[in-house]
Amino acid sequence: MAEKEQRVAIVTGAAQGIGAAIAEELAADGVKVVVTDINATGATAVAERIGGVAKALDVSDPDAVAAVVSEVVDELGRIDILVNNAALVPLTAWEDITFAEWRRVMSVNLDGIYLITHAVTEVMGRAGYGRIVNIASNTFVAGTPNCAHYVATKGASIGLVRGLAGELGKNGITINAVAPGIIASEGVLNGPHVNGFDYVVPMQAFDRRGLPQDVAPAVAFLASEKAGWITGQTLVVDAGHTRN
Ligand SMILES: NC(=O)c1ccc[n+]([C@@H]2O[C@H](COP(=O)([O-])OP(=O)(O)OC[C@H]3O[C@@H](n4cnc5c(N)ncnc54)[C@H](O)[C@@H]3O)[C@@H](O)[C@H]2O)c1
Repeated sequence: MAEKEQRVAIVTGAAQGIGAAIAEELAADGVKVVVTDINATGATAVAERIGGVAKALDVSDPDAVAAVVSEVVDELGRIDILVNNAALVPLTAWEDITFAEWRRVMSVNLDGIYLITHAVTEVMGRAGYGRIVNIASNTFVAGTPNCAHYVATKGASIGLVRGLAGELGKNGITINAVAPGIIASEGVLNGPHVNGFDYVVPMQAFDRRGLPQDVAPAVAFLASEKAGWITGQTLVVDAGHTRN
């Protein structure tokens, strides 16, 4: 019997944090991972560590997205998995959100998902197979304050999963969301959200900080061939924080 072909995944924003952990988990499952990030140096370091391919990519740049998707098809011949992970994670009170900041968050967190998903589903559609996972956030469930623009994009990413599943299903493509709770990524540890652990950890079922490695297996499962009967769903991965 012919050896099974290696699946190919694109993970966005994978130079650090949850994206890097997802790239590592997929690589451990035998997937060839295209590690993309606006931070080219970080993407290269992760790709070298996991035997993947690095591509510099700003997901909000339409030309760059089109170029990277076409390069991946030329170089690797297929795209089986897309993980929409790249996002800006601001902490800004409503009265301080300028229209410029609102637009910037929409452009990375939401337009970015549209651009790469639109390009990749064309490739997956031709193959009649695909797995797409959007990294949303449990802030959409919790109604977390001081990041209304961010929460709006995370709700929209869940809306896209629900709205698109039927159309993509006709082509053998699943699309789901994973909604993590607060996670000790580089972005969180080096930013204002770090104070959120004091408030959130006591509400979790487990008394410790969540790690990127706590989220990655859920993503890898939804990206696996075994998850073919699951689509249009959101899996909350937050140690039970928003269970009530
Ligand atoms: N860490 C958390 O507490 C938490 C909780 C829920 C959801 N999430 C979601 O998980 C995902 C990853 O979060 P994280 O905490 O690991 O973030 P992080 O800030 O540690 O990493 C984000 C990565 O995205 C990259 N990036 C930023 N703008 C980009 C752009 N325009 N194009 C491409 N890459 C870009 C950054 O360079 C960085 O490598 C995000 O979607 C975030 O909303 C995080």
